[in-house]
Amino acid sequence: MTKPLSFDFTATQLDAVAEFSGQVAVFVESSGKLDQTARRVNRLTKGALERFAESSAFADIEPGQARELVFPTGLEATGIIVAKLDRKPDAKTARKAGSAIGKATGKSGLLVLGGNIARVAEIAEGIALRAYTYSDQKSVQPDPMGGVTFMVNKPEEAASAAAGPLAVAEGVFFTRDLTNAPANHLTTEEFANQLAAMQNLGLKVQVLDEGELEKLGMRTLLCVGQGSDAPSKVVVMEWNGGGDEAPFALVGKGVVFDTGGISLKPAGGMEDMTMDMGGAGVVAGVMRAIALRGAKANVVGLVGLVENMPGPNATRPGDVVTSMKGDTVEIINTDAEGRLVLADVLWYAQERFQPCGMINLATLTGAIIIGLGHEKAGVFSNSDALSADFLKAAADEDEGAWRMPLDPAYDKLLKSRIADMKNVGGRAAGSITAGQFLQRFVKDDMPWAHLDIAGVASVASDTAYAPKGATGWGVRALNRMIADNYED
Ligand code: BES
Ligand code: MN
Ligand code: ZN
Repeated sequence: MTKPLSFDFTATQLDAVAEFSGQVAVFVESSGKLDQTARRVNRLTKGALERFAESSAFADIEPGQARELVFPTGLEATGIIVAKLDRKPDAKTARKAGSAIGKATGKSGLLVLGGNIARVAEIAEGIALRAYTYSDQKSVQPDPMGGVTFMVNKPEEAASAAAGPLAVAEGVFFTRDLTNAPANHLTTEEFANQLAAMQNLGLKVQVLDEGELEKLGMRTLLCVGQGSDAPSKVVVMEWNGGGDEAPFALVGKGVVFDTGGISLKPAGGMEDMTMDMGGAGVVAGVMRAIALRGAKANVVGLVGLVENMPGPNATRPGDVVTSMKGDTVEIINTDAEGRLVLADVLWYAQERFQPCGMINLATLTGAIIIGLGHEKAGVFSNSDALSADFLKAAADEDEGAWRMPLDPAYDKLLKSRIADMKNVGGRAAGSITAGQFLQRFVKDDMPWAHLDIAGVASVASDTAYAPKGATGWGVRALNRMIADNYED
């Protein structure tokens, strides 16, 4: 997998600055004030930094943004990345400044002159998150990124504060790699293998094959994959870092490719459906993050891995299938397949683990993109407390999320003449009827939230913390929600 930049926190040593041959990053306060480290850079460059800090080019950038002064006189460095940031920034601005530095970082190594700046962990997190490139499919691999030397006045404190966020960044990279991977590479089997490999990190991983899923009665999940040669799988990842309390469950939609099935999608843009496993990718990234940072919580992650293809054995519109729960579903549209996968995995998660709460993630509906665009995921929940916990964590991590309604009034749209329900409700309120469908597979007293991430899992332009493509949205918010609410 793509590894985040490696970080080394060391004591400030201003004499090393002149000889450093990569890029040097410095922070300048919004007032234009230079601290001790920036003053050294200014002196070495014969006043270049001060001229920049007093220019309209500097006045025009926001706190958290950066500009690079290239090939400076007086330094060996190839460039000075100047970030506008006050000495005591808030977490979000600090992360943004880090991200601006990460975006500008090249291959030759980075020396960050932090001095006594606050929020070093968030700055490091921002650098790590933004310095990501997906190159697995390029025949010529780019030179590996040089490491980051972060000079600060209290290096031990900085290193221990940054350890957690940097572990989480590795989880985010795992999610991005999975979500960016083409469907002929990331098959259901390859996906399951990559999850099984996380046993190295102390996770317990179990892969259920089609025979076992059949025995469990997971017909709504299996009917999605039966047009494909790729075998359907459910992977269960357990992290037991807590006591003997019930685990929190994360459930992900892992459609490695969604053609729509017999209800075939139009050709234009169909290639984007390689990201239709994004929900499962986030679950995988969170499990990796909590294992790497040794979270003191019990968390179980379950993903349903299938490929939705047309074929002689594919499910037809009009077919009726029986879920593991026992409810029957009339399949009106084989392109509404994510909810069929999740129905069985949600039910299985509750039956097997009796979790204390449950969140599922899915690139579930195009309609959520119409509603919320690419800035915010839709949050559907039967619990005000759980949704408040999640929305707070998402806000703290600067990951967009917005609560949407669930209401029994929408249930009539899912009525079937011949079965217990149909799998689509029609064009109106398409994301809500999808949520209502899922809720039928959630027990009444189970605190649960459904995150529709169709608009945020992979995007066509750069975001604050990621280059275009897979974002890894949700890994940081869920990790924080677990840390804030389920760890002692
Ligand atoms: N995977 C799609 C949803 C999607 C659309 C994800 C765009 C990412 C970007 C999902 O399986 C789907 O096809 N949903 C249908 C549901 C409809 C048939 C009720 C949709 O949104 O059109
Ligand atoms: Mn679909
Ligand atoms: Zn889909």
